[in-house]
Amino acid sequence: MSGKLKFVSVVGARPNFMKVAPLHRAFSKIGSLQHFIVHTGQHYDANMSKVFFEDLELPKPDVYLGVGSGSHAEQTAKVMVEFEKVLVKERPDLVVVVGDVNSTVACSLTAAKLLIPVAHVEAGLRSFDRTMPEELNRMVTDVLSDYLFVTEESGVMNLRHEGIEEKKVFLVGDVMIDSLILYREKAKRSRIKDSFGLTGGAYTLVTLHRPSNVDDRENLSKILRIFEGISGSGKIIFPIHPRTRKRIEEFGLSRRFQEVDSLVLADPLGYLDFLNLMMDARILLTDSGGIQEETTFLNIPCVTMRENTERPSTIEVGTNVLTGLDVDRVIGLTRECYGGKWKVSRVPDLWDGRAAERIADILMNSSGEMSSIGSNKVTKELDK
Ligand code: UD1
Repeated sequence: MSGKLKFVSVVGARPNFMKVAPLHRAFSKIGSLQHFIVHTGQHYDANMSKVFFEDLELPKPDVYLGVGSGSHAEQTAKVMVEFEKVLVKERPDLVVVVGDVNSTVACSLTAAKLLIPVAHVEAGLRSFDRTMPEELNRMVTDVLSDYLFVTEESGVMNLRHEGIEEKKVFLVGDVMIDSLILYREKAKRSRIKDSFGLTGGAYTLVTLHRPSNVDDRENLSKILRIFEGISGSGKIIFPIHPRTRKRIEEFGLSRRFQEVDSLVLADPLGYLDFLNLMMDARILLTDSGGIQEETTFLNIPCVTMRENTERPSTIEVGTNVLTGLDVDRVIGLTRECYGGKWKVSRVPDLWDGRAAERIADILMNSSGEMSSIGSNKVTKELDK
């Protein structure tokens, strides 16, 4: 026994990497702490995973579970089976999960069943839409967590309404914004615009991957109509998520997408290249969770093609507007934006690049309590 505390952080899918990177940086500064990174392998393509480790200077994961794709139950169950083995071997003092993907809920459930304390970073966000897999993942993870680190005030209110004990809840800001602040200068040096021929002209940047938008032919056709409607207002850069690419092909829409004037279809991009494009875009069209926050921080107009958001501060004080798949509205708003009309954002409190440090401080200050939540009982549970 080294006598050090041991934390295991989990990454699985693309939006997890930029959240764990600042935590790793903060944890690494603490001499009395050993930090392990477990990659579940939920995302496995190099451009959905490896490039983020390089861009964000994350070390190679200590353990790679290699679970890959599958139905929700398959993916979640595979992560649980493999992660349990890691926990039994490593016996960490704490498991840290981020965000709302299947790996998040799978690992928090595995840890909680072994009576290992769980910290959830980005807790409390609610879209109140239980048809979203992420909403279920968020709710279950929060109920199981011992430390709930929240990005915005609405999250604190949601957890209070759900009866989560106040002493477990900490408003700390946004670790994803920590990464953005740390890497924006480096991102400015990316040459990605050259490869898309974006020399000075205004352009629209698009990301779409929600099942509700892309798993349905009718909805993908609406997206096509939006592109056709805005193709006169500058280039449209669309790095395509593997799920979306697969559906476009399955629905036989590839040709029609290729035929839209000004639409540039690209492979998924790394963190620095995407940040470079986002910082100079005229407008973002998206259904991502994280991009709503990044555009609010950067004061870049954002249209979110969803009916709801779990990040209401991006609407209330940020640049975000919700449209669902209202084709005319998205086209109208995009044109207005090109005409110079958009609201100006205020950056939400504590989105200042120091969220990970706050989390590390809180965890280290309560490490005594952590062992009373976990270790005595854990030893018994693991030794059974
Ligand atoms: C997942 C998250 C979502 C997050 C998104 C970011 C859940 C429930 N959803 O959705 O919250 O916003 O990641 O990308 O966890 N695929 C590949 N290569 C990969 C990864 C996926 O080809 O490296 C393809 C596979 O066909 C797979 C499909 O994409 O079946 C979907 O992947 P999956 O991890 O199930 O969910 P995402 O849609 O990526």
